[in-house]
Amino acid sequence: MRDAQAQTIHRKDYRPSAYLIEHTELSFDLQDGYTDVHSRLSMRRNPQADGSDEVLVLDGIGLETLRVAIDGEELSESQYRIADEQLIINGLPDAFSFECITRIDPDSNDALEGLYRSSGMYCTQCEAEGFRRITWYLDRPDVLSVFTVTIRADADRYPVLLSNGNRVSEVKEDNNRLCSVWHDPWPKPSYLFALVAGDLQSLDDRFVTASGKTVDLHIFVEPKDLDKCDHAMESLKASMAWDEEVYGREYDLDVFNIVAVDDFNMGAMENKSLNIFNTSCVLAKPETTSDMGFQRVEAVVAHEYFHNWSGNRVTCQDWFQLSLKEGFTVFRDSQFSADRGSAVVKRVEDVSLLRTVQFAEDAGPMAHPIRPDSYMEISNFYTVTIYEKGAEVLRMLHTLLGPEAFRRGSDLYFERHDGQAATCEDFVKAMEDASGLDLNQFRLWYSQAGTPELRVSGRYDAEQSEYHLTVEQSCPSTPGQSEKQPFHIPLSLALVGDAGQIALRLKDEEPDAEQSDNTERVLNVRQTSETFVFTQVPEEPVPSLLRGFSAPVKLHFDYSRDQLALLMRRDSDGFVRWDAAQQLARQCIDDLRVSADASVDERYLSAIGDILQEPGLEPAMVALLITPPTEAWLGEQESQLDAQSIHRAREQLKLAITGAHEDKLWAIVESRDLTQPYEPSAAQIGLRSLANTALTLLMSQDGERGRDACERQCAQANNMTDRLAALRALVNSQFRELADELLEQFYQQWQHEPLVVNEWFALQASCRHEDTLQRVQALMAHPAFDRRNPNKLRALVGAFCRNAHNFHRADGAAYEWLADVIIDLDGRNPQLAARMLGPLCNWRRQSTEQSIAMRQSLQRIADRNHLSRDVFEVVHKSLDEAS
Ligand code: TRP
Ligand code: ZN
Repeated sequence: MRDAQAQTIHRKDYRPSAYLIEHTELSFDLQDGYTDVHSRLSMRRNPQADGSDEVLVLDGIGLETLRVAIDGEELSESQYRIADEQLIINGLPDAFSFECITRIDPDSNDALEGLYRSSGMYCTQCEAEGFRRITWYLDRPDVLSVFTVTIRADADRYPVLLSNGNRVSEVKEDNNRLCSVWHDPWPKPSYLFALVAGDLQSLDDRFVTASGKTVDLHIFVEPKDLDKCDHAMESLKASMAWDEEVYGREYDLDVFNIVAVDDFNMGAMENKSLNIFNTSCVLAKPETTSDMGFQRVEAVVAHEYFHNWSGNRVTCQDWFQLSLKEGFTVFRDSQFSADRGSAVVKRVEDVSLLRTVQFAEDAGPMAHPIRPDSYMEISNFYTVTIYEKGAEVLRMLHTLLGPEAFRRGSDLYFERHDGQAATCEDFVKAMEDASGLDLNQFRLWYSQAGTPELRVSGRYDAEQSEYHLTVEQSCPSTPGQSEKQPFHIPLSLALVGDAGQIALRLKDEEPDAEQSDNTERVLNVRQTSETFVFTQVPEEPVPSLLRGFSAPVKLHFDYSRDQLALLMRRDSDGFVRWDAAQQLARQCIDDLRVSADASVDERYLSAIGDILQEPGLEPAMVALLITPPTEAWLGEQESQLDAQSIHRAREQLKLAITGAHEDKLWAIVESRDLTQPYEPSAAQIGLRSLANTALTLLMSQDGERGRDACERQCAQANNMTDRLAALRALVNSQFRELADELLEQFYQQWQHEPLVVNEWFALQASCRHEDTLQRVQALMAHPAFDRRNPNKLRALVGAFCRNAHNFHRADGAAYEWLADVIIDLDGRNPQLAARMLGPLCNWRRQSTEQSIAMRQSLQRIADRNHLSRDVFEVVHKSLDEAS
């Protein structure tokens, strides 16, 4: 493990590489105990470089260097220098061949970067800077090279050998060695390189592109998982068709491979034609996978496939541009998911994630713009800000330009930059050129961090029949950015009157003849404060604001509870309805926090009642509307978090909803047909979601009727969604003996399915009971737990840290425990350690005692010697007084 270096990399220091690599030839010899990598690079001076430095500086970490040669001549150790993870050679000609042999040890690689072993197979993860753990290289995304890769391994244990592009040859050699050669014709940066070797089987299919080319599709898994690949294959074919239809993008090789591995730091990786997936994001079948799992597989398969254009054909100049590929690709996969399932449900899910996790990040010590200006460790910047806020920024562009101009901009971007390493600025410029819009002020979304706040107020002038809407914007300061300029914010709105939405006419504006629906529109908010005047407004309206969540901002409007109830009941925008329900529920929760015996506002309860009976409303939407806000969202809005009081009041609200609508909720639960054959369709997913939401609410009563219903559902369910929902409800109930018995049965039944065992861990770690920390600690000693496997750690430790009132126990025991987990983990897997450290970092926003305890635990980590750069950066930025 490397020692902590406080070195910061700045965006403004970007310089083109002094050298280019035309062709990369790699040869891997996979042996027991070590792997030798022979690399031959044809290099030449970069005409684009300023020429001032004539030194070749290659990146490498943890490499044993067995040979270095230039143009076939081996160099002696005095002819090059190895220091600080660099290999330096002076006095080179303009063009030459660089050759080296490095020896690495995939078996002891627990960091899961570079070449490593995962349950018996070999695989790679090179993004962002993992390639330098394989061989000496210009390991930066703006150096694109054509790769030819040779792999040799034992033919019996590793019958499947894969790399990027097409297989050129495969032969059996002496000593039972299999030798496979691959060639990828598309120039690519090193982070897209991949290699796999294992005893795998594949599900095979094919796709015919719009221009008639046949592409062979393979999903490689361990033999026991071959029955769990169909959903991923269907998702892949759907993604390929969708990208042709919506973005005009075709696949560009004859083969597309996906490989599933158990040990993986993230969801999946878009290596050119050889995507490597976390098993959790590719395997699915009804008996073992929940609805959420099915949807995740579909979304991640699409995401990685879409990267083939947004990321691979056009890649990033440097890692500060990461959102160029990630924001765009998340936007594309969210459009795809919206098209495949329920668009409004997908929107609400995305907004929920953004408003809890991303808003918290934007208000914390690690806040950064979607195009950061500096970092210490790039792995720490694969964040919800880069991904999800990045996608929101593109969504705003889509809203401002409209779908046609956005598509023209996308076409222009791909045409201009195909085969290049581009920047966020290149993307915005293409959008600007294609649409004629001035996006100058819009560019601030790329450079300014923090969540803008919109304060909106309305005044009705009955005499003039005018409605005056005043919009004020501000943005809190973030580390390194105290002053902010006003953003260009698309604010989508409607005005709701007694008889429905009112036609919108802005004062001093020519009526737009082409606009057919004039009851909804997007205002361009650009100033710190501005007023929009609507004319011919016959009555005082209720404004329906930020429809579809048209911008990633915090909106404040002083709605009365009657107005919120009205929007919750009948606004035509699904997001606004849901948001009004959230806000009204939040007010009810606040009432209960002020006084525990306050009664819950009738207006909320009766709106819930109407929604439960609303004809034609999709069940998934009913489920969203009747679910009280998450503790995470409630907590995110507090400056001094009191997780216990939020939890108590929220439980009380659940009880009140149940008390008021018991019969309707039972009717939903009991009308379920548990024998219906499972399908992961939007319609069925919605029905299950509603029924299980109702069951969970009913279980807040801790009654025997609920207990029996859960027990029955556990026994009879034919799918993992219903089984887990019933088990979860029981585990959170007072029937603890029964719950423990069923938990044990569940484990006995599913112990051979690692992904199901993960669900079993996560379910227990999310339990609301007070002894959850002790149980989690005990589970870490369970034979099924493996502290080297990221999915297991996320299931147990990650899930527990999201269990707010247990994580923020008054005695601070959970903080101490997490610090110990992090210290242990940092020695093996720094990327994951830094990620899991997140929950300790917002200590400034906790109540005083909690805050002190969290800080102490953080300080204990900071005081260790030999922290990884990953953990070092996060710990120090959160302890730093400046933030
Ligand atoms: N590019 C990957 C994606 O978004 C992200 C990724 C996969 C990654 N594995 C990683 C990022 C490891 C950093 C480290 O799909
Ligand atoms: Zn991605």
